[in-house]
Amino acid sequence: MPLVLDGVEIAGEIKAEVAVAVQALKERGVVPGLAVILVGSVAASEIYVRSKVKTCGELGIYSEMLTPPKTVTTDELLTMVAALNGRDDIDGILIQLPLPGHVDTKRLLEAVAPEKDVDGFHPVNVGRLQSGQPGLQPCTPAGVMEMLRRRDIPVAGKNAVVIGRSDIVGKPMAMLLLNASATVTICHSKTANLAGVTQQADILVAAIGRPGFVTEDMVKQGAVVIDVGINRVVSEDKVREFFGDDPKRQATFEKRGSVVVGDVHPEAFRASSAYTPVPGGVGALTIAMLMANTVKAAELRRG
Ligand code: GUN
Repeated sequence: MPLVLDGVEIAGEIKAEVAVAVQALKERGVVPGLAVILVGSVAASEIYVRSKVKTCGELGIYSEMLTPPKTVTTDELLTMVAALNGRDDIDGILIQLPLPGHVDTKRLLEAVAPEKDVDGFHPVNVGRLQSGQPGLQPCTPAGVMEMLRRRDIPVAGKNAVVIGRSDIVGKPMAMLLLNASATVTICHSKTANLAGVTQQADILVAAIGRPGFVTEDMVKQGAVVIDVGINRVVSEDKVREFFGDDPKRQATFEKRGSVVVGDVHPEAFRASSAYTPVPGGVGALTIAMLMANTVKAAELRRG
């Protein structure tokens, strides 16, 4: 039976350590602060942001939410970011993505002071990651590395394959694995013979945003499979296709009208030696790492 990498449990370990670090800062008169900008009302983003703000409260981190309407201009957002950059009580600034199409996302991310860039999206932090220098790193891939480290899964010398090349997950994930001395391949929608590549993976990371995309034939026997996908399946047929007659998933579907499925087909995990479930895997780590980054930013800037 493969080992289940329990993201909720690992996130709990990280958050407990963050809470201790927050107390240590408070004893020196510093309360770490996070500002989150949420533009408009995208249901998924609202859920994520609420969860981030709630976790701040649990760990003693001050948080502030800015919620401009979806008609907000790039210039108005730039003014907001500039004000947050200038505030001593704000250590981390997070702009929840995606932004409406008319907003210049790249310009906005570049406006965040690199030392407050708790998402690790600013080009300075991207460059630091690329050149192996310390900096703030994107939360989801950093969480995956933390999970591998805490569960003693070796990375050095392993073949790691990342499916997906997004700036948020795929690219930084590949860079972190490379910095940890894995041999890394990045695959994407145009990759030829994708299964042939993924079958070589000792560590397979799926981050493409397509439900059940990775099938059992794509997984090498004994691979460690990390599923970053969070996809909502809204048809009963699809739920059956992914989960058969699993009564728990059927009940979830009946209650909520949807079921969350990762990028890895549930049957594909059978070939693995260890895997992250969805839900309860990588998702929980992202917020824990955001908290860790906020405290790190506070320590570096005000500690
Ligand atoms: N939207 C989806 N994931 C993320 C993330 O990690 N950070 C931000 N800012 N927005 C996101």
